[in-house]
Amino acid sequence: METTMEKPKASGRLLDVDEQAFRREFDRTSFMVKHQLADHPLFKFEKLFELVQARKENNKDIYFDMGDIKINQRWDQTPARSLSVEEAFNRLEQANAWIIIRHIQKDPAYLKILEDCMAEVEKLSGLDFKRFVKAKDAIFFLNSPGRVTPYHIDRECNILLQIRGDKYIYVFDKNDRTVITEEELERFWTVDNNAATYKEQHQNRSTEYLLKPGTGVHVPVGCPHWVKNGGGVSISLSINFHYRNFVKANLYRANYYMRKMGLKPTPPGKSKVGDAMKRGVIGGLTKARRMFKKESLYS
Ligand SMILES: [Fe+2]
Repeated sequence: METTMEKPKASGRLLDVDEQAFRREFDRTSFMVKHQLADHPLFKFEKLFELVQARKENNKDIYFDMGDIKINQRWDQTPARSLSVEEAFNRLEQANAWIIIRHIQKDPAYLKILEDCMAEVEKLSGLDFKRFVKAKDAIFFLNSPGRVTPYHIDRECNILLQIRGDKYIYVFDKNDRTVITEEELERFWTVDNNAATYKEQHQNRSTEYLLKPGTGVHVPVGCPHWVKNGGGVSISLSINFHYRNFVKANLYRANYYMRKMGLKPTPPGKSKVGDAMKRGVIGGLTKARRMFKKESLYS
């Protein structure tokens, strides 16, 4: 069942949401939003093509793949590409492709949109982003009809805004250990971006969102999700950010190494004393590594 957080009429802001519900649920659970960006002139195909042309040599800015992708496909096992990114863009109707344009805020016009969105999210969430947010990013996703984005979890806190076309996104509860296990989380935060494993038998534990232009979905850090595009080409804008110190990440790393040593670590949040000790150890190791690197640099 879908969780919505829409206000009945536009408020003049970019995001139209119930403010109290947004603050209560932000980064705890997924929910739907409405937005005012679907008709923005900078989100037209021509403008996105200009971005692709300008960034095509920089593989940190542009990613694309094509071919049949399964829900449980690993990122590092996608089929070989037979087209250039410009060709894939121009043949999106047939190419079964997924194109990602990252860091669009390098262009000042897009930077303004990112900053306006982040300012709204900061106000709505009640969080002090200067304290908590390390890096923010705005990303375009372009998908061919019917294209699947594999099951995964992200390190970023995300609001995905639909600009053109329809897509289904299936989001699972980040605290549902039937769906995502402690071992998977430990591996994800330590060694393997693909550690989250899709379990078809638990698909019915997800929330299904149908995104149409003018709607979007908030996906908290660590919520497993996968996407199936609708019958047309889709454009989505992702507004996302990294937390400065995502405390749980270090706890999962500590638990990863403890498990490797044959121990049975306590999951984060179950023991205040245990969590504090792990934070101390991992924090100390990180500091030592930084110092070592610095000394190596000077020597
Ligand atoms: Fe994602």
